Amino acid sequence: MNTDIDAQLFEAAEAVRKRAYAPYSHFTVGAAILADDGKIYSGCNVENAAYPIGNCAEASAIAAMIAGGAKRIERVYVTGSGSMPTTPCGGCRQRLREFAAPDTAIICHGVEGEPLMTTLGELLPHSFGPDHLDQ
Ligand code: THU
Repeated sequence: MNTDIDAQLFEAAEAVRKRAYAPYSHFTVGAAILADDGKIYSGCNVENAAYPIGNCAEASAIAAMIAGGAKRIERVYVTGSGSMPTTPCGGCRQRLREFAAPDTAIICHGVEGEPLMTTLGELLPHSFGPDHLDQ
């Protein structure tokens, strides 16, 4: 299912991963989001000499999506330079949670082997989100 869009998302994630700025970890990550406007937004990790303030690829892709005017995440690809599939870190699971539904597909790739196909709800069960705030 979704073979064409999946190919485009994988290609976008790989293209942006090649532009990652990761001189400290040497671990490059690309993320590509299919948004509710039908467009693909991508981002890579951007590290910093002050290590804790580096940005993850998912955070960069979300920033691009919001800057581009889209509102919701429909599907996500993450590709990383490790042998295991790169899964979003804990902080990025929460960042994705803000704009995605529990059944939103998240497809995680490493440089070898089969991708891990999961959902936001599997990665972040019983999550806290905007709906919990009484406003
Ligand atoms: N990284 C991401 O960009 N996304 C993740 O979800 C996992 C980790 C980056 C952060 C850092 O630049 C490098 O991978 C090694 O942790």
